[in-house]
Amino acid sequence: MASLSYYLDRASLYIALFAAWVAMLGSLYFSEVMGFVPCDLCWYQRILMYPLTLILLTGLLLRDKHLPKFVLPLSTLGMVVSSYHYLLEKTDWFDAVQICRNGASCTTLWINWLGFITIPFLALVAFTTITVMAVIALMAGEPAEADEDEDGVETQRTRAWLPAFGVVGVVLLVFGTLFSTGWQKTAESRALAAEMAVMPVSGPMTSASGALLNDTQSSGLTLYREACSGCHGLNAEGVPNLGNVLVNNTFIQSLSDVELLQFIRNGRDLNSPENTSGLVMPPSGGRPDLDDTQMNMIIAYLRAQQTQ
Ligand code: HEC
Repeated sequence: MASLSYYLDRASLYIALFAAWVAMLGSLYFSEVMGFVPCDLCWYQRILMYPLTLILLTGLLLRDKHLPKFVLPLSTLGMVVSSYHYLLEKTDWFDAVQICRNGASCTTLWINWLGFITIPFLALVAFTTITVMAVIALMAGEPAEADEDEDGVETQRTRAWLPAFGVVGVVLLVFGTLFSTGWQKTAESRALAAEMAVMPVSGPMTSASGALLNDTQSSGLTLYREACSGCHGLNAEGVPNLGNVLVNNTFIQSLSDVELLQFIRNGRDLNSPENTSGLVMPPSGGRPDLDDTQMNMIIAYLRAQQTQ
């Protein structure tokens, strides 16, 4: 009877192929459908993961016996970066290291399933799977050269295109469905938000109570529309499943301008006891490029939206 290891040897690189495609499409799902902002470290992991999808596919189709050696440098380096990123999220060992200074924070916990499964954790699982499978393949001499029967016809095992495209096809099908339903849902909530919003058609801009906005508040509204309205609504009325209502918001009312600025800079991740929605408020609303003067204009606008 063929042992389990016989099958594992032969399946190893297809398992790696599967892991790489799921990791790539999963990360694209998080950024393109869920709207999570990839940080610098996330990009390094993507740089190491994305090429693996095509290297594994081409190597399997060509049955190149060197394939595991092309895979291992990328996948082991990926394990190092993901482990580092995970420790950065979960420990304070690297607090002194200044990483991800420009752009999205590296320690925003966009997901925290069961209290330990974060995005770098998922990446680490994928990189480790690919590494272990590549080592197994290396030791087993996979992919083996084309086998030929007596008549010189390639035997079934060598026809690699079927399992290789099968694996990729199944992953694409599943993610294709996820992407289309995800985008549809986002489009629906945005349409709803636009319907609820009372856009000032022309003329002077007014606050929730109908009062005219002064110059600072109007500039704040313009900046707010660019930076925050995607999640909090055009007039701070909130968007279902994206961001909460900021009109007559007791949390805003309880903070001074300085404290509110500090809050917006830090954002609020899923670990925060104050988090009520199970959604992430990204640091600086995902716009670290806005300076304090601009943020203070947004705050002035938000103050004008507190009418009671
Ligand atoms: C990617 C979506 C997103 C963007 C962009 C965003 N926010 Fe948020 N924000 C949230 C979510 C989600 C929460 C609620 C988190 C929770 O459950 O506590 C929140 C909470 C807040 C709160 C606290 C409200 C409360 O009741 O606790 C303030 C204030 C706030 N955001 C201001 C801003 C400002 C100002 C901007 C623009 C510079 C901005 N947000 C951009 C998603 C976003």
